[in-house]
Amino acid sequence: MQKKYVITGSTSGIGKALVEEFSKTDIVYAGYRNENLKLEGENIIPFYVDMSKPETISSAIDFINQCEPIDTVINSAGCVVAGAVQNIPMNEFRRQFDVNVFGALELTRGLNPSKVINISSMSSFGIYPFIAPYCASKRALDILFNLWSLECGVKVISLKLGSVATPIWSKSIKENEKCFNSCTGYEKETEYLIKNALKNETNGIPVKYIADKIKKINNLKNPKPSYTIGLDAKLTEIFSHLPQGFINYVIDKKLKRMRSI
Ligand SMILES: NC(=O)c1ccc[n+]([C@@H]2O[C@H](COP(=O)([O-])OP(=O)(O)OC[C@H]3O[C@@H](n4cnc5c(N)ncnc54)[C@H](OP(=O)(O)O)[C@@H]3O)[C@@H](O)[C@H]2O)c1
Repeated sequence: MQKKYVITGSTSGIGKALVEEFSKTDIVYAGYRNENLKLEGENIIPFYVDMSKPETISSAIDFINQCEPIDTVINSAGCVVAGAVQNIPMNEFRRQFDVNVFGALELTRGLNPSKVINISSMSSFGIYPFIAPYCASKRALDILFNLWSLECGVKVISLKLGSVATPIWSKSIKENEKCFNSCTGYEKETEYLIKNALKNETNGIPVKYIADKIKKINNLKNPKPSYTIGLDAKLTEIFSHLPQGFINYVIDKKLKRMRSI
């Protein structure tokens, strides 16, 4: 029998690749917020949702629930709020959490699936200055869903991905332009961040590799609650287990080096 999936963020990058992969054999409800980019095809049922707008989440839940019970929700919709913590407007912190955390939780709880796959990030290990809102959102996503899973028995898998070659990198530069421009005193760091982001957009792990890997993990009988995918993510995880004082010492050294260039 065909399984029923809900995949958010289906209009680009990882979400899009997952819809294309899973819809080869199963039914996929594919969340979009930009009508012009919505995916259509055999086994694909597009639905509108803006993860920052609770009323659209409620409508999406009503629409999907009246169709059929869902086996698996894959939360891929996400955005990056970047800049210096001191300068980022508070509403941007809220937007970051609305999209990456609260929206995902609200939609998932409302759909009552038996399995959830969250596209988390190595940022969840919390060691990247100037993308602090994003790091905090991915950590919050992991903690909330893991504890929810223990409370209610729904299987939750967190995928802590390293850098993947998707449009998220250039989008985040564009979306955070205003914030970067107002980052007075942090020009060198911002410049480094932008250069690095552009590199990742082409040098990151190919999206097809990630989609295949997720499909394999999804097919496991007893998947682990968390997978760290990519060499950069694995090194980040190891580093994050060192004493906080040492981590901060290394990061501080790197920041100082960056400022002196
Ligand atoms: N790429 C990486 O290196 C990387 C690494 C680790 C984790 N991740 C995570 O992977 C997930 C997918 O990212 P990606 O790299 O595939 O990026 P992407 O190509 O930019 O795709 C992000 C998707 O999320 C959607 N989205 C953004 N804000 C939304 C909102 N408010 N409501 C509904 N949908 C929204 C986007 O829709 P629009 O097309 O309308 O913008 C797009 O479909 C994200 O959660 C990201 O944090 C990515």
